[in-house]
Formats: sequence, C-alpha cells, structure tokens
Amino acid sequence: MSAPGPASRLLITGGAGFIGSCYVRDVLARRDGTRITVLDKLTYAGNRANLAPVEADSEQAARFSFVRGDIADPEVVGPLVAEADAVVNFAAESHVDRSILDPTAFLRTGVDGVHVLLEAVRRETERAPAGGRRAEPRFLQVSTDEVYGSVAAGFSREGDPLAPRSPYAAAKAAGELLARSYHVTYGLDVVITRGANTYGPYHHPEKLIPLFVTNALDDRALPLYGDGMQVRDWLYVADHAGAIDHVLRRGNAGEVYNVPGAAELPNRDVVAQLLARLGKPWSLVRFVEDRPGHDRRYAMDGAKLASLGWTNQVAFADGLAATIDWFRANEAWWRAARSGEWDAYYDRQYAGRLASADAVAEVSPGAQAAAGAEAVPADVAPGGQPAETEA
Ligand code: NAD
Ligand code: TYD
Repeated sequence: MSAPGPASRLLITGGAGFIGSCYVRDVLARRDGTRITVLDKLTYAGNRANLAPVEADSEQAARFSFVRGDIADPEVVGPLVAEADAVVNFAAESHVDRSILDPTAFLRTGVDGVHVLLEAVRRETERAPAGGRRAEPRFLQVSTDEVYGSVAAGFSREGDPLAPRSPYAAAKAAGELLARSYHVTYGLDVVITRGANTYGPYHHPEKLIPLFVTNALDDRALPLYGDGMQVRDWLYVADHAGAIDHVLRRGNAGEVYNVPGAAELPNRDVVAQLLARLGKPWSLVRFVEDRPGHDRRYAMDGAKLASLGWTNQVAFADGLAATIDWFRANEAWWRAARSGEWDAYYDRQYAGRLASADAVAEVSPGAQAAAGAEAVPADVAPGGQPAETEA
C-alpha cells in the first residue's frame, strides 16, 4: 500500500466542480506542503471561479496548477499521472435529470474516462518496482450511494449488491466496478468511496437545494417532484471532502467505504427548512410530474468508515444555514452558473412540468403559514393536491 502522506503530489480530476473544488481548497489550506494539479474539462458544471480562493493565496497558488482537459484523453492523462503520488477522480457528469435527457456524456466520462485513468495508473504501477518512480500511485474513485439503487428499509452496506436505476447511477457503478477490477486483476492500489447526497457552497444550481434556494431568492416557483416524500441523507460538502481525504490517507487497498450524511429527510422537510431560513412562503412550491425511475430512498451504514476513524462534523441545520448564507452572499456566482445553456436546460426540464402543475397544485393559504415553521404543511396531501379545494 502506498497511501500518500503530507507533501505528496495529488492529481485531482474534476477538481473545478462542486465537491472536487472543496477538496482542493481544504487540502491546500492546511499548508502541509501537498501539491495539487487539477485536471478538469470545464463542462457546464466546472468553474475556475471555484478555485479562485486558492489562486488568490500566493503560498497555496505556488503548490497548485490547473490543466484544462478530458480524463478520457490518454495524451493529457498519461504525463499527469506520471507526476502524481495519487489520483482522486471526482470527474463525472453528475446530474440524474440530465442523464435521463441524454446519457451519452455520462458513459464517456464515467466509463471510458475512468478506463483511461486506470490504464495510466496501471502503467505507473508497473514502473514502480523497476525503480521508474518512487512508489506506485494510489487511485481513489469517488462514487455514490446511488449505485445501491432505491433502499426501501434498512441501510446499505458496502458488500450489498449494486442495483443502479438511472443512467447516472449505472455509469457510476460501471466506473467503480472497473476500478475494482484493476485492483483484483493488475494489483492497482485502488480505494472507492460512496458518498451520500452532498450540499454546500459552490453547489451547481441544477441540484435540489441550490435550485430551490436560488429560485426562492427570485420568488420563482420551486418544482418538487411527485409527492416530495423521497428520502435523501444529506452530507455537508466539507464533510464529504474530508471523508474522501481520510480514505485516501488511511483506507485499505481494494476496499469500498460508504460516506453517509448527517440527516435522513424527505424532500418536503428539506424544502420547508430552507424556506423558513430564507423567510419565503411555502406557496412557491409546485408539485410537478415526477422524475422517471425516481429512487425513493437512499440510506447507508457508515460503520466501516467510522472504524477507520472518520466522523462528520456538520449538522444539517448548521450546514443548511451556512449554504444559504453563502448563496445570499455570492449572487454573481450563481447568476453566472444560471447563464449560457441554463435557460435551454431549464425549459426542457421544467417548462412542461410547471405549466401542467399550475393548473392543479395551488397550495392553500394554510400551507403558506408553514414558511416560518420547520414542519411540512399538513394540508398538502401526498401527490401534491391540496386536501381542501380553495374557493
Ligand atoms: P460536479 O458536476 O459539480 O463536478 C464535476 C466536475 O467534473 C466538473 O468540474 C466538470 O467540469 C468535470 N468533468 C466532467 N467531465 C469531465 C471529463 N471528461 N474530464 C475532466 N473533467 C470532467 O459534480 P460534484 O457534485 O462535484 O460530484 C463530484 C463527484 O462526486 C462525481 O463523481 C459524483 O458522481 C460524485 N458524487 C456526488 C454527489 C453529490 O451529491 N453531488 C454525491 C456522491 C458522489
Ligand atoms: P438531486 O439534487 O438532483 O440529487 P439526486 O437525484 O442525486 O438525489 O435531487 C435530490 C432530490 O430532490 C431527489 O429526490 C429529486 C428531488 N428534486 C426535486 O423534487 N425537484 C427538482 O427540481 C430537483 C432537481 C430534485
């Protein structure tokens, strides 16, 4: 095993995205000599501004470099992996709804891209015993709880069968299975993390929490899918990044580690809490046509990661407050993220849903009173229809 210590050289792929950029900011801010190269394609979800705090700090900037490129391009990947003590792969297309609209890019990055990275790591692993480099590189594949599929009851453990149900989750499962196969077949030093639904600053506004926060700040409708009773286990981004680093340094080769969140909540409760914090009314919510194949619940057992010595630090109420404060203070960031192809995507995903929802899902005045409360309004029945018809 060759887990990287302080002052190591890390290649962070997808490091301009939401979780990857948090990882880069947090690791460089420790000032322990670690050097980081980010390789990122800068898709619609990648943003160099997410790394601005690093580039504005001369000590951190001296230990940081950025390469724009594709993990599926062996010409770019080969020389970067040759320089690295470890590779942490955050790069992916990450939004389930977009994977339903068109899975192509999900497979290219999630399967072909992971394959290209693994081939480069394999070459470097083979060079190490001959003295071609100081140690074999470690490869950490960032995966997701969505590979388990929908979990009706109980908590997924690392040995459970994988049953992905969206093209996004299937591509993530394929990527991590390929990584594991390179450990078994070629002896690569591979570790895998499966993280829960993550939220926090710099989160792209296509996802539930930042979409609803930014829409609510503009007093726009909040499109809640189906009955809004789907359950997610929410993980603050700094906790997710910290857990990944913990596994990188201490995880055992060939092992998978669940990274659960700190709060198992139905979407309705998440929305009620964020509206309360924003001081906005529940009447902004529209119950819209559900996502096809929508997973009802994700929930993971975190005992294996805990036994490695990791615990989350941030409670959901604190993380949500910090996230909302960040979005309030960084309007230019999220308005830029909601530009370019955003309107075309938003129309495709929501225009039809919102048009048909408006006719049926007016929320009663009683529900609006819930804006100041934590609870979901009781007078909105499952399915989104008001329990009583308003005159
Ligand atoms: P994100 O969409 O914010 O960031 C993805 C980054 O990868 C972007 O910077 C993008 O430009 C880059 N990228 C995409 N394709 C690339 C390619 N071919 N080559 C190089 N770079 C490429 O995603 P995120 O939310 O930060 O997620 C990061 C990782 O964590 C993903 O692998 C995701 O599957 C996983 N994950 C996310 C969550 C979550 O709730 N967000 C939960 C568990 C696991
Ligand atoms: P999302 O943030 O897309 O994460 P994931 O699909 O990976 O869990 O969605 C979180 C939950 O919120 C999920 O149950 C789908 C739901 N959701 C909505 O109800 N409306 C929306 O507009 C979005 C984006 C998500």
